[in-house]
Amino acid sequence: MDATTNDLTVLERDLMARLDAANDEASLEALRVEALGKQGSISALMRNLGTMSPDERKTYGAALNVLKDKLTETILTKKAGIAEAELDRQLQSEAVDVTLPPVKPRLGTIHPVSQVMEELAQIFGEMGFALEEGPDIETDFNNFTALNFPPKHPARETHDTFFMNARDEKGERKVLRTHTSPVQVRTMLKQKPPIRMICMGRTFRKDSDATHTPMFHQIEGLVIDETSTMADLKSVLIAAIKAYFEVDDVRLRFRPHHFPFTEPSAEVDVGCDRSGGQIKIGTGEDWLEILGCGMVHPNVLKQCGLDPEKYQGYAFGMGIDRLAMLKYGMPDLRDFFAADTRWLKHYGFSPYLLPGLAQGVG
Ligand code: PHE
Repeated sequence: MDATTNDLTVLERDLMARLDAANDEASLEALRVEALGKQGSISALMRNLGTMSPDERKTYGAALNVLKDKLTETILTKKAGIAEAELDRQLQSEAVDVTLPPVKPRLGTIHPVSQVMEELAQIFGEMGFALEEGPDIETDFNNFTALNFPPKHPARETHDTFFMNARDEKGERKVLRTHTSPVQVRTMLKQKPPIRMICMGRTFRKDSDATHTPMFHQIEGLVIDETSTMADLKSVLIAAIKAYFEVDDVRLRFRPHHFPFTEPSAEVDVGCDRSGGQIKIGTGEDWLEILGCGMVHPNVLKQCGLDPEKYQGYAFGMGIDRLAMLKYGMPDLRDFFAADTRWLKHYGFSPYLLPGLAQGVG
Protein backbone atom coordinates (compact mmCIF):
# COMPACT_ATOMS: atom_id res chain seq x y z
CA MET A 1 0.00 0.00 0.00
CA ASP A 2 1.52 3.34 -1.01
CA ALA A 3 1.72 6.39 1.20
CA THR A 4 -1.38 8.12 -0.14
CA THR A 5 -3.81 5.18 0.21
CA ASN A 6 -2.31 4.68 3.66
CA ASP A 7 -3.26 8.30 4.43
CA LEU A 8 -6.79 7.49 3.29
CA THR A 9 -6.94 4.55 5.71
CA VAL A 10 -5.94 6.86 8.57
CA LEU A 11 -8.51 9.44 7.47
CA GLU A 12 -11.19 6.74 7.25
CA ARG A 13 -10.39 5.40 10.70
CA ASP A 14 -10.55 8.86 12.17
CA LEU A 15 -13.83 9.75 10.46
CA MET A 16 -15.48 6.42 11.26
CA ALA A 17 -14.48 6.67 14.93
CA ARG A 18 -16.00 10.16 15.17
CA LEU A 19 -19.13 9.02 13.30
CA ASP A 20 -19.44 6.19 15.76
CA ALA A 21 -19.34 8.63 18.66
CA ALA A 22 -21.81 11.08 17.10
CA ASN A 23 -25.20 10.51 18.72
CA ASP A 24 -27.39 13.29 17.43
CA GLU A 25 -28.44 14.84 14.13
CA ALA A 26 -26.43 18.02 14.62
CA SER A 27 -23.04 16.37 15.17
CA LEU A 28 -23.66 13.94 12.28
CA GLU A 29 -24.45 16.86 9.98
CA ALA A 30 -21.32 18.71 11.15
CA LEU A 31 -19.21 15.64 10.32
CA ARG A 32 -20.86 15.30 6.91
CA VAL A 33 -20.04 18.92 6.04
CA GLU A 34 -16.50 18.52 7.38
CA ALA A 35 -15.81 15.47 5.16
CA LEU A 36 -18.14 15.64 2.17
CA GLY A 37 -19.15 19.32 1.96
CA LYS A 38 -17.74 21.63 -0.73
CA GLN A 39 -14.94 22.69 1.62
CA GLY A 40 -14.67 19.19 3.12
CA SER A 41 -11.60 17.01 3.40
CA ILE A 42 -12.81 14.35 0.91
CA SER A 43 -13.82 17.02 -1.63
CA ALA A 44 -10.37 18.59 -1.32
CA LEU A 45 -8.74 15.23 -1.96
CA MET A 46 -11.02 14.79 -5.01
CA ARG A 47 -9.79 18.08 -6.41
CA ASN A 48 -6.20 16.88 -5.94
CA LEU A 49 -6.73 13.92 -8.31
CA GLY A 50 -5.99 16.21 -11.30
CA THR A 51 -2.40 16.64 -10.17
CA MET A 52 -1.75 12.88 -10.05
CA SER A 53 -0.35 10.53 -12.66
CA PRO A 54 -3.00 8.47 -14.51
CA ASP A 55 -2.00 5.29 -12.63
CA GLU A 56 -2.01 6.96 -9.26
CA ARG A 57 -5.31 8.63 -10.08
CA LYS A 58 -6.90 5.26 -10.91
CA THR A 59 -6.14 3.49 -7.64
CA TYR A 60 -6.36 6.56 -5.42
CA GLY A 61 -9.52 7.82 -7.11
CA ALA A 62 -11.21 4.44 -6.74
CA ALA A 63 -10.27 4.22 -3.05
CA LEU A 64 -11.47 7.77 -2.52
CA ASN A 65 -14.83 6.96 -4.12
CA VAL A 66 -15.23 3.84 -1.97
CA LEU A 67 -14.54 5.93 1.12
CA LYS A 68 -16.95 8.64 0.00
CA ASP A 69 -19.75 6.10 -0.57
CA LYS A 70 -19.05 4.40 2.74
CA LEU A 71 -19.19 7.68 4.62
CA THR A 72 -22.40 8.77 2.88
CA GLU A 73 -24.03 5.45 3.58
CA THR A 74 -22.95 5.36 7.24
CA ILE A 75 -24.18 8.91 7.86
CA LEU A 76 -27.57 8.13 6.25
CA THR A 77 -28.01 4.94 8.26
CA LYS A 78 -27.04 6.64 11.51
CA LYS A 79 -29.37 9.57 10.83
CA ALA A 80 -32.25 7.20 10.14
CA GLY A 81 -31.49 5.29 13.36
CA ILE A 82 -31.45 8.48 15.41
CA ALA A 83 -34.75 9.71 13.91
CA GLU A 84 -36.36 6.36 14.65
CA ALA A 85 -35.13 6.32 18.25
CA GLU A 86 -36.40 9.86 18.71
CA LEU A 87 -39.83 8.86 17.36
CA ASP A 88 -39.92 5.84 19.66
CA ARG A 89 -39.05 7.99 22.65
CA GLN A 90 -41.75 10.47 21.72
CA LEU A 91 -44.38 7.77 21.22
CA GLN A 92 -43.51 6.25 24.58
CA SER A 93 -43.57 9.50 26.53
CA GLU A 94 -46.77 10.72 24.92
CA ALA A 95 -48.57 7.39 25.08
CA VAL A 96 -52.13 7.51 26.49
CA ASP A 97 -53.55 4.33 27.94
CA VAL A 98 -57.23 4.76 27.09
CA THR A 99 -58.14 1.76 29.26
CA LEU A 100 -57.07 3.54 32.49
CA PRO A 101 -59.85 5.01 34.69
CA PRO A 102 -60.06 8.82 34.64
CA VAL A 103 -57.90 10.46 37.29
CA LYS A 104 -60.17 11.87 40.01
CA PRO A 105 -59.22 15.27 41.36
CA ARG A 106 -58.65 15.06 45.10
CA LEU A 107 -61.69 16.70 46.68
CA GLY A 108 -61.38 15.39 50.23
CA THR A 109 -64.22 13.37 51.74
CA ILE A 110 -67.77 13.92 52.93
CA HIS A 111 -68.04 13.83 56.75
CA PRO A 112 -70.16 10.89 57.99
CA VAL A 113 -72.58 13.34 59.66
CA SER A 114 -73.25 15.06 56.32
CA GLN A 115 -73.59 11.69 54.65
CA VAL A 116 -76.12 10.46 57.23
CA MET A 117 -78.11 13.71 56.98
CA GLU A 118 -78.32 13.18 53.24
CA GLU A 119 -79.47 9.58 53.79
CA LEU A 120 -82.13 10.64 56.31
CA ALA A 121 -83.41 13.42 54.04
CA GLN A 122 -83.86 10.79 51.32
CA ILE A 123 -85.64 8.31 53.59
CA PHE A 124 -88.05 10.78 55.21
CA GLY A 125 -88.48 12.65 51.94
CA GLU A 126 -89.82 9.45 50.40
CA MET A 127 -92.30 9.25 53.31
CA GLY A 128 -93.61 12.71 52.57
CA PHE A 129 -91.76 14.73 55.22
CA ALA A 130 -90.81 18.31 54.26
CA LEU A 131 -87.50 19.83 55.40
CA GLU A 132 -87.62 22.71 57.92
CA GLU A 133 -84.85 24.76 59.53
CA GLY A 134 -84.18 26.68 62.72
CA PRO A 135 -81.26 28.62 64.26
CA ASP A 136 -78.63 27.25 66.66
CA ILE A 137 -79.22 30.13 69.09
CA GLU A 138 -82.79 29.96 70.40
CA THR A 139 -85.07 31.84 72.70
CA ASP A 140 -85.89 30.30 76.04
CA PHE A 141 -89.53 30.25 74.88
CA ASN A 142 -88.89 28.09 71.79
CA ASN A 143 -86.39 25.77 73.45
CA PHE A 144 -88.28 25.30 76.75
CA THR A 145 -91.45 27.25 77.55
CA ALA A 146 -93.49 26.47 74.45
CA LEU A 147 -92.42 22.83 74.85
CA ASN A 148 -94.14 22.67 78.24
CA PHE A 149 -91.06 22.99 80.44
CA PRO A 150 -92.51 24.99 83.37
CA PRO A 151 -90.57 28.24 84.07
CA LYS A 152 -87.60 27.71 86.43
CA HIS A 153 -88.47 24.01 86.47
CA PRO A 154 -85.53 21.65 87.16
CA ALA A 155 -86.35 19.81 83.91
CA ARG A 156 -84.45 22.63 82.21
CA GLU A 157 -81.37 21.56 84.14
CA THR A 158 -81.48 18.02 82.76
CA HIS A 159 -80.50 19.45 79.41
CA ASP A 160 -77.15 20.82 80.65
CA THR A 161 -77.90 24.03 78.81
CA PHE A 162 -75.36 26.55 77.52
CA PHE A 163 -76.83 30.01 78.26
CA MET A 164 -75.70 33.16 76.43
CA ASN A 165 -74.46 35.98 78.69
CA ALA A 166 -76.65 38.78 77.31
CA ARG A 167 -80.12 39.27 78.78
CA ASP A 168 -83.06 40.72 76.86
CA GLU A 169 -85.50 43.33 78.24
CA LYS A 170 -87.40 40.57 80.13
CA GLY A 171 -84.13 39.45 81.74
CA GLU A 172 -84.09 36.27 79.68
CA ARG A 173 -80.97 34.75 78.22
CA LYS A 174 -80.86 33.02 74.86
CA VAL A 175 -79.60 29.43 74.74
CA LEU A 176 -77.67 27.24 72.37
CA ARG A 177 -80.57 24.96 71.49
CA THR A 178 -80.38 21.76 73.52
CA HIS A 179 -82.48 19.84 70.99
CA THR A 180 -84.09 20.38 67.59
CA SER A 181 -87.57 20.41 69.17
CA PRO A 182 -87.83 24.25 69.03
CA VAL A 183 -88.21 23.80 65.26
CA GLN A 184 -91.51 22.02 66.07
CA VAL A 185 -92.64 25.25 67.70
CA ARG A 186 -91.42 27.43 64.83
CA THR A 187 -93.21 25.24 62.28
CA MET A 188 -96.52 25.13 64.16
CA LEU A 189 -96.42 28.90 64.66
CA LYS A 190 -95.98 29.61 60.96
CA GLN A 191 -97.98 26.82 59.31
CA LYS A 192 -101.47 25.36 59.73
CA PRO A 193 -101.90 21.55 59.91
CA PRO A 194 -101.57 19.13 58.29
CA ILE A 195 -97.87 19.31 59.17
CA ARG A 196 -95.37 16.60 58.25
CA MET A 197 -91.84 17.82 58.66
CA ILE A 198 -88.30 16.92 59.62
CA CYS A 199 -85.47 19.21 60.65
CA MET A 200 -81.78 18.42 61.07
CA GLY A 201 -79.04 20.40 62.71
CA ARG A 202 -76.60 21.14 65.52
CA THR A 203 -77.59 20.86 69.16
CA PHE A 204 -75.59 21.63 72.31
CA ARG A 205 -75.28 20.25 75.84
CA LYS A 206 -72.52 20.33 78.47
CA ASP A 207 -71.55 16.71 78.17
CA SER A 208 -68.51 14.79 76.94
CA ASP A 209 -67.64 11.09 76.82
CA ALA A 210 -67.39 8.34 74.17
CA THR A 211 -71.07 8.75 73.19
CA HIS A 212 -71.62 12.43 74.10
CA THR A 213 -70.03 15.60 72.73
CA PRO A 214 -70.93 19.20 73.71
CA MET A 215 -72.06 19.79 70.12
CA PHE A 216 -73.95 17.02 68.40
CA HIS A 217 -76.65 16.62 65.76
CA GLN A 218 -80.31 15.71 65.87
CA ILE A 219 -83.09 15.06 63.44
CA GLU A 220 -86.55 16.12 64.57
CA GLY A 221 -89.80 14.87 63.13
CA LEU A 222 -93.28 16.30 63.63
CA VAL A 223 -96.65 15.19 62.29
CA ILE A 224 -99.78 17.16 63.18
CA ASP A 225 -103.20 16.40 61.74
CA GLU A 226 -106.56 15.21 63.13
CA THR A 227 -105.95 11.45 63.20
CA SER A 228 -102.29 10.40 63.64
CA THR A 229 -101.63 8.01 66.50
CA MET A 230 -98.82 6.35 68.43
CA ALA A 231 -99.20 3.37 66.07
CA ASP A 232 -98.41 5.63 63.10
CA LEU A 233 -95.38 6.94 64.98
CA LYS A 234 -94.09 3.41 65.61
CA SER A 235 -94.58 2.26 62.04
CA VAL A 236 -92.84 5.34 60.58
CA LEU A 237 -89.88 4.94 62.96
CA ILE A 238 -89.50 1.21 62.34
CA ALA A 239 -89.67 1.69 58.56
CA ALA A 240 -87.18 4.58 58.68
CA ILE A 241 -84.68 2.74 60.89
CA LYS A 242 -84.83 -0.37 58.70
CA ALA A 243 -84.33 1.71 55.55
CA TYR A 244 -81.45 3.53 57.19
CA PHE A 245 -79.56 0.45 58.39
CA GLU A 246 -80.52 -1.54 55.30
CA VAL A 247 -81.05 -4.59 57.55
CA ASP A 248 -84.41 -6.27 58.12
CA ASP A 249 -83.71 -7.67 61.56
CA VAL A 250 -82.84 -4.43 63.34
CA ARG A 251 -84.03 -4.78 66.92
CA LEU A 252 -85.80 -1.75 68.42
CA ARG A 253 -86.83 -1.38 72.07
CA PHE A 254 -89.53 1.18 72.92
CA ARG A 255 -89.16 2.10 76.62
CA PRO A 256 -91.76 4.25 78.42
CA HIS A 257 -90.15 7.59 79.23
CA HIS A 258 -90.97 11.16 80.14
CA PHE A 259 -90.57 14.32 78.09
CA PRO A 260 -92.45 17.50 79.03
CA PHE A 261 -93.57 18.00 75.42
CA THR A 262 -94.98 14.53 74.66
CA GLU A 263 -97.54 12.32 76.39
CA PRO A 264 -97.24 9.39 76.26
CA SER A 265 -93.51 9.34 75.61
CA ALA A 266 -90.98 6.65 74.77
CA GLU A 267 -87.28 6.29 74.35
CA VAL A 268 -86.06 3.91 71.66
CA ASP A 269 -82.90 1.82 71.85
CA VAL A 270 -81.37 -0.11 69.00
CA GLY A 271 -79.84 -3.55 69.53
CA CYS A 272 -76.11 -3.72 68.92
CA ASP A 273 -72.86 -5.41 69.84
CA ARG A 274 -70.25 -3.28 71.56
CA SER A 275 -67.69 -6.00 72.33
CA GLY A 276 -64.32 -5.76 70.64
CA GLY A 277 -64.11 -1.96 70.57
CA GLN A 278 -66.43 -1.72 67.57
CA ILE A 279 -70.16 -1.13 67.39
CA LYS A 280 -72.08 -3.62 65.26
CA ILE A 281 -75.75 -3.37 64.42
CA GLY A 282 -78.10 -6.35 64.02
CA THR A 283 -76.23 -8.65 66.45
CA GLY A 284 -75.26 -8.67 70.12
CA GLU A 285 -76.86 -8.13 73.48
CA ASP A 286 -76.21 -4.42 73.95
CA TRP A 287 -78.53 -1.45 73.45
CA LEU A 288 -77.79 2.12 72.40
CA GLU A 289 -80.38 4.82 72.90
CA ILE A 290 -80.99 6.62 69.63
CA LEU A 291 -84.24 8.50 69.90
CA GLY A 292 -87.04 9.99 71.97
CA CYS A 293 -90.61 10.23 70.79
CA GLY A 294 -94.24 10.51 71.76
CA MET A 295 -97.62 12.11 71.11
CA VAL A 296 -97.40 15.91 71.10
CA HIS A 297 -98.59 17.25 74.49
CA PRO A 298 -101.85 19.30 74.37
CA ASN A 299 -100.05 22.14 76.17
CA VAL A 300 -97.52 22.36 73.30
CA LEU A 301 -100.33 22.56 70.75
CA LYS A 302 -101.96 25.35 72.83
CA GLN A 303 -98.69 27.30 73.15
CA CYS A 304 -98.41 27.13 69.35
CA GLY A 305 -101.95 28.37 68.79
CA LEU A 306 -103.49 25.01 67.83
CA ASP A 307 -106.70 23.60 69.33
CA PRO A 308 -105.87 20.33 71.13
CA GLU A 309 -109.51 19.28 70.81
CA LYS A 310 -109.12 19.32 67.04
CA TYR A 311 -105.49 18.53 66.35
CA GLN A 312 -103.15 15.77 67.45
CA GLY A 313 -99.92 14.22 66.28
CA TYR A 314 -96.55 12.81 67.12
CA ALA A 315 -92.95 13.93 67.33
CA PHE A 316 -89.55 12.26 67.48
CA GLY A 317 -85.95 13.33 67.92
CA MET A 318 -82.93 11.21 66.96
CA GLY A 319 -79.19 11.56 67.47
CA ILE A 320 -77.65 11.72 64.00
CA ASP A 321 -74.09 11.13 65.23
CA ARG A 322 -75.16 7.98 67.04
CA LEU A 323 -76.92 6.73 63.92
CA ALA A 324 -73.63 7.26 62.06
CA MET A 325 -71.60 5.44 64.76
CA LEU A 326 -73.95 2.47 64.62
CA LYS A 327 -74.04 2.15 60.87
CA TYR A 328 -70.42 2.86 60.09
CA GLY A 329 -68.80 1.40 63.22
CA MET A 330 -67.02 4.33 64.83
CA PRO A 331 -66.55 3.58 68.53
CA ASP A 332 -65.96 7.13 69.85
CA LEU A 333 -68.10 10.16 69.12
CA ARG A 334 -65.38 12.63 70.10
CA ASP A 335 -63.36 11.66 66.98
CA PHE A 336 -66.18 13.07 64.82
CA PHE A 337 -65.20 16.60 65.75
CA ALA A 338 -61.41 16.27 66.16
CA ALA A 339 -60.80 17.39 62.54
CA ASP A 340 -58.18 14.66 62.10
CA THR A 341 -57.72 14.16 58.36
CA ARG A 342 -56.64 10.53 58.86
CA TRP A 343 -59.99 9.80 60.52
CA LEU A 344 -61.83 11.63 57.74
CA LYS A 345 -59.94 9.70 55.09
CA HIS A 346 -60.87 6.44 56.78
CA TYR A 347 -64.52 7.14 57.63
CA GLY A 348 -65.37 9.83 55.05
CA PHE A 349 -67.41 9.30 51.89
CA SER A 350 -66.69 9.98 48.25
CA PRO A 351 -68.08 13.31 47.08
CA TYR A 352 -69.02 11.55 43.85
CA LEU A 353 -71.47 9.11 45.42
CA LEU A 354 -74.47 10.93 46.83
CA PRO A 355 -76.87 8.61 48.62
CA GLY A 356 -80.25 7.97 47.05
CA LEU A 357 -82.93 5.39 47.67
CA ALA A 358 -82.53 3.90 44.19
CA GLN A 359 -78.77 3.26 44.42
CA GLY A 360 -78.89 2.46 48.16
CA VAL A 361 -78.58 4.99 50.94
CA GLY A 362 -75.35 3.63 52.40
N1 PHE B 1 -86.03 16.60 72.18
C1 PHE B 1 -85.83 15.34 72.82
C2 PHE B 1 -84.40 15.20 73.27
O1 PHE B 1 -83.55 15.82 72.73
C3 PHE B 1 -86.16 14.19 71.87
C4 PHE B 1 -87.61 14.16 71.53
C5 PHE B 1 -88.07 14.82 70.41
C6 PHE B 1 -88.50 13.46 72.31
C7 PHE B 1 -89.42 14.76 70.07
C8 PHE B 1 -89.82 13.41 72.01
C9 PHE B 1 -90.28 14.06 70.88
O2 PHE B 1 -84.10 14.48 74.19
